[in-house]
Amino acid sequence: MDLGLKDRHAIVLGASQGLGLGVARALLGEGASVTLVARSMERLTAARADLPADEQARCDLVVAYLGEPGAVDAILDGAQRDGRVVDILVNNSGGPPTGLPSGVSVDEMSRQFDKMVQPIMALTLALLPGMRARKWGRIITIASSGVIQPIPHLPISNALRSSLVAFMKTLAGEVAADGVTVNVMAPGRIATARTQSIDSAQAKRSGRSEDEITKESASSIPAGRYGTVEEFGAVAAFLASAPASYVTGSVIRVDGGAIRSI
Ligand SMILES: NC(=O)c1ccc[n+]([C@@H]2O[C@H](COP(=O)([O-])OP(=O)(O)OC[C@H]3O[C@@H](n4cnc5c(N)ncnc54)[C@H](OP(=O)(O)O)[C@@H]3O)[C@@H](O)[C@H]2O)c1
Repeated sequence: MDLGLKDRHAIVLGASQGLGLGVARALLGEGASVTLVARSMERLTAARADLPADEQARCDLVVAYLGEPGAVDAILDGAQRDGRVVDILVNNSGGPPTGLPSGVSVDEMSRQFDKMVQPIMALTLALLPGMRARKWGRIITIASSGVIQPIPHLPISNALRSSLVAFMKTLAGEVAADGVTVNVMAPGRIATARTQSIDSAQAKRSGRSEDEITKESASSIPAGRYGTVEEFGAVAAFLASAPASYVTGSVIRVDGGAIRSI
C-alpha cells in the first residue's frame, strides 16, 4: 500500500529515542521529511546518524525543552523555516514521575501540565489553521493505555493524558470536514528506556529484580511480550497516511491485547 507520505513534512516531538524515534523512522521510511524534536542535541544527532543516508537528508533537528518558555516558538521556527509547511504533527513528551495517587503533589501536577499538555495544545492550535486551509492534516497524540485503564502507579500520567484525549476528541469533530484527522495512540507496554525505568522503579519498591518484574509484566500481556518501537511506528505511519483519511477522533490501542475492556 502506498501511504502517500513522500511529499509530506512531519514534526515528531520526543523523537531522540523510544516511541517518538520509532514513529520518526517509520515516517522517514515512507519518504516523508521529519523534524525531530527533543532536549538533547547530542541524542538527536546520534539518532539521525543511525539513519540511512537518504533519510538523514530528510531529517532536521530542533532542540526544545517542552515546558520551558520559547519551546513552542523554537519548534515552529525550525520546522517552518524557508516557508515549509507542516502536514503531520506527532505529539509526544517525556513521562511524569510515578507514585501513589494519594501522594500526588498538586504543584508537581501543575509542572507536568506545563510539559505534557500546554505545549502540545499550543503546537496543535498553531499548526491547525494551515492544515485546514490546505484541506489536509494529521494530528497524532501519543498518550497511554492509562487513558482507558488507569495504571495504578501513574496517577499524573493517567490524569493529564486523559485531558489531552478529551481535547483531541473535541477538536476532531470540529475539523473533520476540513481533511484534518485527529487521533490518539494508546501504547500498552512498548520496550523503551521509559518502560525500563518504570520496571526498575517497581523492582526497587517491591525488593525484586528488574528482570523478574519485566517477565511478570510481559506475561500479563496476551501477546506475551512488550511491543517494539517498530510495531508502534508502523501504526503511527498508517494514521499519518493518505489512506487513513476516514480515521479520526479515535484512540488506537497498540498494546498486544493488554487493555481488557472492549
Ligand atoms: N513506552 C511505552 O510503553 C509507553 C506506554 C505508555 C505511555 N508512554 C509515554 O509515551 C511517551 C514516550 O515514551 P517513551 O517510552 O518513548 O519514552 P522515552 O524513551 O523516555 O523517550 C522520551 C523522549 O522525549 C524526549 N523528552 C523528554 N522530555 C522532554 C521535554 N521536556 N521536552 C522535549 N523532549 C523531551 C526525550 O529526549 P531528551 O531526553 O533528549 O529530551 C526522548 O526523546 C512518554 O510520555 C511515556 O510516558 C510510553
